[in-house]
Amino acid sequence: MTLIDRGGVIIIGANVAGGRAAEALRVNGYDGPISLIGDEPSPPYERPPLSKEMLLSPEEIPESFFIHQGGFYGENLIDTYFGQRVEKLDLNSKRVELGGGTEISCEKVILCTGTRVRKLNVEGSSLKGIHYLRTLEDSKRLSAELSPGKRIGLVGMGVIGAEVAASARKLGCEVVTVEPQKVPMARALGEHLGGWLANVHREEGVDVRLETGITGFDGLNGRVTAMFLTNGDRVPVDTVVVGIGVIPNDELAKNTGLLTDNGVIVDNTTQTSNPNVFAAGDVANSPLYYGGNGRVETYQNAQDQALAAARNIAEADAPYFKPQWFWTDQYDINLQVLGDVTSPAEVIVRGETDGRSFTVLHVRNKLVVGVITVNKPKDMASARRILEKRILISTDLLRDETNDLRQLLKISRQTG
Ligand code: APR
Repeated sequence: MTLIDRGGVIIIGANVAGGRAAEALRVNGYDGPISLIGDEPSPPYERPPLSKEMLLSPEEIPESFFIHQGGFYGENLIDTYFGQRVEKLDLNSKRVELGGGTEISCEKVILCTGTRVRKLNVEGSSLKGIHYLRTLEDSKRLSAELSPGKRIGLVGMGVIGAEVAASARKLGCEVVTVEPQKVPMARALGEHLGGWLANVHREEGVDVRLETGITGFDGLNGRVTAMFLTNGDRVPVDTVVVGIGVIPNDELAKNTGLLTDNGVIVDNTTQTSNPNVFAAGDVANSPLYYGGNGRVETYQNAQDQALAAARNIAEADAPYFKPQWFWTDQYDINLQVLGDVTSPAEVIVRGETDGRSFTVLHVRNKLVVGVITVNKPKDMASARRILEKRILISTDLLRDETNDLRQLLKISRQTG
């Protein structure tokens, strides 16, 4: 065993959360050693383009795809271990063990170990041509199969299924989606907007099969040729993409005795059950803005929770408490969701939901608690202020479309 006696902070997971945590430690004045360790071969990169731009033009990886450019890590004295897996975290000896027999010492740890794809376990699920999408390598492998006229079967119509459907249609593929729930992206959008999204995909030529599951795959010479559905249909396909959710990589934490439960349990300062260990991003199970606890699988959460972890290590007291926000781009649609749009609430629609430009407000006790915008980024900017600052605006005014949300924000501030 070789010991690198470095001390300082070790960040496990070289993704958006890990990369931003390293950066934020320096920004907040932490001048001790920092080690950033991740099992993917690349430095931290943006995952959102993997199901969109990277599928459309895989040969053009822009510099901005990586979250830091050039010699950032060297210039900031951040030791990087890319393509290396942490096998063990020992909080008694304060060491992490890498595969290959290297140990690194530390004072504090930030766990940004993220999630991995949930695998489908039905007959034929190990056939060639069945893809998952989580990493840059996954995206490259999939893009090589998306040529015009190819028949693509998508299992699960969550974020991945819906975004890949849109990209595959743009590339001229035939697309069939299979989703057990009543609507696509139900978890994120709720039933009403999910139903609207199903119609959009149908208008774009996707064969959307809802309330339908998959029982297995047919194959020839080791490669997938068809999907078998719960309604008895056999759907011929050339390629399949499975997007049925993710599971947290919380084993390192569990094995070292940290509290875990569907992720690593943290408080609202991102601290785990051990005061020297913090967790951020998809793997962290934290107090939620509208009550309860849970993991938040969004880019914004990965980034902001990592900043909070770094600030707390750099000794500032930095509680983290933000409403969830995410966006998705499908076809000509930019859809953004803020706050809680799935719990019971009064729903106010501004614009027409039979088009592709409108805003939906979810209001509880006169407070805007959730917002969905479809091609209305300016509305999202105003609604974010209304929601985060808990500004009370009557539902009559919110319904009245003669004033846009920006004007409503102004009026309500003036009237106090
Ligand atoms: N067969 C078909 N569909 C299934 C099955 C199954 N056996 N099990 C689950 N599903 C469906 C769910 O009903 C849901 O609609 O798969 C979908 C999974 O959606 P998400 O939870 O959004 O997960 P996914 O699309 O895989 O995205 C994974 O990437 O972009 C991020 O935020 C996203 O963190 C999420 C991750």
